[in-house]
Amino acid sequence: MRNFTDILTKLLGDAFEAAGYDRDFCKVQVSNRPDLCEYQCNGAMAGAKKFHKAPFVIAEDVVAKLKENGAETCFSAEVVRPGFINLKVVPSYLSDYLKEEAADPNLSLPQVDQPKKIIIDYGGPNVAKPLHVGHLRAAVIGESIKRLCRAVGNEVLGDVHLGDWGLQMGLIITELKHRQPDLPYFKDVEQDFPKEPPFTIGELEEIYPAASAKSKEDSAYHEEALEATHLLQEGKPGYRALWQQILDVSVADLKRNYDRLNVHFDLWKSESDAQPYIPAMIEQLKADGVARLDQGALVVDVKKPEDKKEIPPCIILKSDGASLYATTDCATIVEREKLFKPDEIIYVVDKRQHMHFEQVFRTVKKAGIVDDSTELVHVGFGTMNGKDGKPFKTREGGVMRLQVLLDDIKANMEEKIRGNHNVRTEDAGKTAGQVALAAVKYGDLSNQASKDYVFDVDKFTSFEGNTGPYILYTIVRIKSILKKAQEEGSPVDARNLLPALSEEEKKLMLDLSGFGSSVYAAYEELAPHKICAYIYQLSNDFNRFYHETRILAEEDQKRKESYLALLKLTADVLEKSIDILGFDAPDYM
Ligand code: ARG
Repeated sequence: MRNFTDILTKLLGDAFEAAGYDRDFCKVQVSNRPDLCEYQCNGAMAGAKKFHKAPFVIAEDVVAKLKENGAETCFSAEVVRPGFINLKVVPSYLSDYLKEEAADPNLSLPQVDQPKKIIIDYGGPNVAKPLHVGHLRAAVIGESIKRLCRAVGNEVLGDVHLGDWGLQMGLIITELKHRQPDLPYFKDVEQDFPKEPPFTIGELEEIYPAASAKSKEDSAYHEEALEATHLLQEGKPGYRALWQQILDVSVADLKRNYDRLNVHFDLWKSESDAQPYIPAMIEQLKADGVARLDQGALVVDVKKPEDKKEIPPCIILKSDGASLYATTDCATIVEREKLFKPDEIIYVVDKRQHMHFEQVFRTVKKAGIVDDSTELVHVGFGTMNGKDGKPFKTREGGVMRLQVLLDDIKANMEEKIRGNHNVRTEDAGKTAGQVALAAVKYGDLSNQASKDYVFDVDKFTSFEGNTGPYILYTIVRIKSILKKAQEEGSPVDARNLLPALSEEEKKLMLDLSGFGSSVYAAYEELAPHKICAYIYQLSNDFNRFYHETRILAEEDQKRKESYLALLKLTADVLEKSIDILGFDAPDYM
């Protein structure tokens, strides 16, 4: 289904052409003077020079043709000096359009002509370290972009891309060896290793920072960790077995945490999965002359003449032969090409890694690892700051665990909700969890991803203003009216929709007609904040309508059924939108 700006642009184009002018001037946009009209076309002014005619004359000619073509049954048009064409939707045309929208399973959200296969690389947690607030944005924004790409018909795979390789693993192994030297993993004889891991997730989370601190002070310890990393990478059986257990324990815990965020990955691949692809990739880079030696290191030159800033060469191997972060990311693309052949890979990673991705993208294109048509995109996000404008910390100044943050906000929500007699005591915990998640996610997503933002708990958890709880509250309000209607036997059916009577009702209807174009625009720009802006406006306009209108008490039965249909569509559009954002609404709150 096409949206009104497209339909109007087409109608205006036909009229411009029929009047002997140029289609190029026919573009219609949402009005920037909503007090005067709903849509407008400013093409007559733009065309005046070319046609040596006054804009007013051109606009009059076009509107005359519009009338001749019968467009006035859908839109009324008026010419305003110097040459604006102001447009309004005819109420019956609007309600007919919404009936079709309601009948469409996609609620008129356009579907892509050619579905792409897209991999979204988001999450990026490192094993054996708890999720902290620094991981929140990747998870929340990535999940939403994944759902958004899927909602318009693409085939999408979300990949967590675990950090499970490198020195961090050697450090954990070394520390375990110091603490429990008698474990079979450290013996040189090959043997069966125990099925049960020798640590819990809690212990693991304590071991890593302890090891990391020691290695900074003690150079012998650091050497030992480097050696352990090396032996692990060589495939020493005891270390491989231990590494596998670290991974298993960590992944089980990460899954629990991501589940709680309503974040679900299709692929649990990791950096280690890419390692087997490195040797052949390096050989190819050398054989093709793509890489060159620079002071013993293997590098790929990726700068281009048109660059405005310096793009340093991408280092593939250090002079001691060790691979780096960029090596792993390039090899991961080799693997993805082999397993999935994606049309596009989107990385949702901190914007401070922008240079890294620029180098990796250029390297794989230059090396022909992906072909030119493959889109590689870095959606870089800014930092989540505290109220002091500095990166978000605990009160003590430490890194805050994600679990702690969510628990705090949930407790805060539970207190607010418990006062509400609509919520059964046994549901209060679950509902508080749902509302807390909406508060956190909406608080994040409503900001443009690339910007830093202030994580303000009081603001985000408020039931008023541009917040997740406000959106949920609007949905719950509608659901409760619909439930009452159902109880009294009133039908809720989109076919009952009538043309709007009041300004408030028409505004709500216009918002609903914009669902498809708003969400599709968010997809084209990979910008979930546009969906937030859309549903905030929709919620405000709904609540304005609600306060002006008696719905269940309406005496005219046909009118009442029309209101119920309108409420149902509003709830459906809001729920589909928040589903794309990655949260859902309770029945009561
Ligand atoms: N694990 C990395 C980190 O902690 C993030 C990984 C991001 N994704 C990627 N493909 N490089 O910084």
